[in-house]
Amino acid sequence: MAPNPPEPEQLPTCCREIVTEFSKEMLNLGDVLFQLLSEALGLRSNHLKEIGCLEGMDTAYNYYPVCPEPELTLGATQHTDTGFITVLAQDDIGGLQVLHRNRWVDVPPMSQGLVVNLGTLLQFTSVEHRVVLKGAEPRVSAISFFGIGYTLNTRLYGPVEELLSEDNPPKYKKTTIKDLVAHAYKQGLDGTSFLHHLKLMD
Ligand code: OGA
Ligand code: NI
Repeated sequence: MAPNPPEPEQLPTCCREIVTEFSKEMLNLGDVLFQLLSEALGLRSNHLKEIGCLEGMDTAYNYYPVCPEPELTLGATQHTDTGFITVLAQDDIGGLQVLHRNRWVDVPPMSQGLVVNLGTLLQFTSVEHRVVLKGAEPRVSAISFFGIGYTLNTRLYGPVEELLSEDNPPKYKKTTIKDLVAHAYKQGLDGTSFLHHLKLMD
């Protein structure tokens, strides 16, 4: 959806209007969220936007059908999202869980509420999550991934320079997205091990 949105005719007519409208609203919301995150980090409010956090947005509309034996499977296996942040709207079925201190914790649906996940590109310690199936009814979620889109650029991504100091040195080497993604897949998407080769200190 950003930076190169599809032509309207590339989207199915049944959802063309709503998907276009929803993406526009999500980009506006992303703008606000990155302003708040910048301010929370003690940066000027446009900082994260200026270094490219709002350039790319991919969307996914997930449909989890009813499963006759939900305890034998998962809706989505354990993973982290690779972008900067993910904004997720879920219906009232439930099933999303995050890993917290080695335990799976439910993220209960909140009417009108959105879930915001930190992705790997923002902090490198991105939240592990999965979806379990609740059984009785199908589930739908609408997700906006703020990353770099599919523009595999050659830019080096690293810590926000303004936040570094002698007391707060970088923990990881700068990396291109291509290198990051290549390592992530090589190591079987294990969130901790693929960062190993970028680590500068413990
Ligand atoms: C994802 C994801 C969760 C959900 O698509 O990356 O984590 O609730 N989905 O659909
Ligand atoms: Ni995810």
